[in-house]
Amino acid sequence: MRTSDAQTLIVEKNPNPVADSERDALLLNPVFGRVFTDHMVTIEYSRERGWQNGKVRPHAALQLDLATLVLHYAQEIFEGMKAYRLPEGGSTLFRPGANARRFRNSAERLAMAPLPEELFIESVRALVRIDQKWIPGGDGAALYIRPFMIATEAVLGMKPSAEYLYCVVACPVGSYFKVGSPSVTLWISDQYTRAAPGGTGDAKCGGNYAASLAAQAEATREGCDQVVFLDAVERRWVEELGGMNVFFVFDDGSIQTPPLTGTILPGITRDSLIVLARDMGLAVREEPYAIDQWQEDALSGRLREAFACGTAAVVTSIGNVKGRQYNFTVGDGGAGPVTGRLKDALLDIQNGRVEDRHGWLDRL
Ligand code: PLP
Ligand code: COI
Repeated sequence: MRTSDAQTLIVEKNPNPVADSERDALLLNPVFGRVFTDHMVTIEYSRERGWQNGKVRPHAALQLDLATLVLHYAQEIFEGMKAYRLPEGGSTLFRPGANARRFRNSAERLAMAPLPEELFIESVRALVRIDQKWIPGGDGAALYIRPFMIATEAVLGMKPSAEYLYCVVACPVGSYFKVGSPSVTLWISDQYTRAAPGGTGDAKCGGNYAASLAAQAEATREGCDQVVFLDAVERRWVEELGGMNVFFVFDDGSIQTPPLTGTILPGITRDSLIVLARDMGLAVREEPYAIDQWQEDALSGRLREAFACGTAAVVTSIGNVKGRQYNFTVGDGGAGPVTGRLKDALLDIQNGRVEDRHGWLDRL
């Protein structure tokens, strides 16, 4: 009953799937994260028996004891990835191995049982295969996949759980931000920080997102789309947004993004864009960028473009940046050409329109 047994996922088909006509209507304009496919994956872990009882089964609610550890101490991690419809038929995942590795790293940071990477990948493949019909077509549309793991031991003692539940759910998605707007507006959080050195900033755990919500609410009150967090020590260095990494494009054609120092999420989109930018001959620096410098460079014109990137957000131009002491526009406030080229290069690979030179696609 160790890991290898769980790798054969038992399939229980949903006897009441959403009707084809209803699903097709839902796929026309999917709102991010509201509509789910017919199935989900669950795999259980206990310290004595390892990973076991892996199933692809009808999407359903869970029943949990009220003492379940995750409800009290937030021992929870998740991933975000997408499946894309291919022009020749079939579908593909994008760098699922990178998500599997990050999931394992997050588990280790949260003192949770690491899920074997092959099992993570197999679980995602199995869900996408059975729910293929839920992958929307069209540019920017995809099936968003959310693997996650919760501590399920029912005890109020403050300790790592001896039991876990790993699940995968999926939802058809379109654009993360409002359609029709060429760029987003950011709010610089000077009161709140997202992660401190030694904390969980480079793990994808629910607690990081809960801790960012007050800042996000402030951004919304200020009429902004997203928060940009500064480092927790000097309150000076740009780190990342609530759910995205950030890049800067300069007048000499070079691009820069904050380095992975443990307080930001090592984004898979970030990593892919660094590779694609270098393929285009652009110089890429992974170096700290100060908020005052950002304002100065935007005002002088040295900074031409800035963009946010992530699985959900894809590549999104940053137009305006506001804060208690800041208010500036990047470039002309719209979508910049380098941002557009990088976005197209990424989407062309993900949607199978160009050769996959880096071996990033996992075709199903
Ligand atoms: N930073 C944060 C805080 C995120 O939540 C995400 C999204 O997953 C990212 C960055 C981008 O990561 P990725 O490109 O792997 O989706
Ligand atoms: C993702 O891009 O996958 C994320 O998890 C970000 C979240 C804000 C939806």
